[in-house]
Amino acid sequence: MAQLLWTHECEIGINQIDQEHRYLLQMINRITALARSGRINNMEVWQARLNSYAASHFMHEEVLMELTIPEWSGRSRHIREHRNYWVWVAELDIYTDPKAMVDFLESWWIGHILSMDKAMGRAIQSRGMHHEGMGPQ
Ligand SMILES: [Fe+2]
Ligand SMILES: [Fe+2]
Repeated sequence: MAQLLWTHECEIGINQIDQEHRYLLQMINRITALARSGRINNMEVWQARLNSYAASHFMHEEVLMELTIPEWSGRSRHIREHRNYWVWVAELDIYTDPKAMVDFLESWWIGHILSMDKAMGRAIQSRGMHHEGMGPQ
């Protein structure tokens, strides 16, 4: 349950998406700190905020792909990974095992950003359709 640090390595090169990832990692750090201090009620509140932010973030990426790289071979797998996230989240109970929840959040988000989201960023940039400031926060 270490604090996740935003590093240059996490950048995918699309400003709006990078900002959203930075905020998502901050929220996960907050949830981690609450888990460590045993404040599970507050943890639940932050988890609800994370869920709502994650849902709109996934939508931003999916719309961006639809608009810029609809034929990209990784698109359907990327969308499937977003869907599977909710299956995992639904299986984890912060009251029975807060550490498992935090461990999952950290590894899923870092793993997804470094693989799928980075690949999406490269695919978009290779088409020269670099979108800045897309969609609402
Ligand atoms: Fe994604
Ligand atoms: Fe993402």
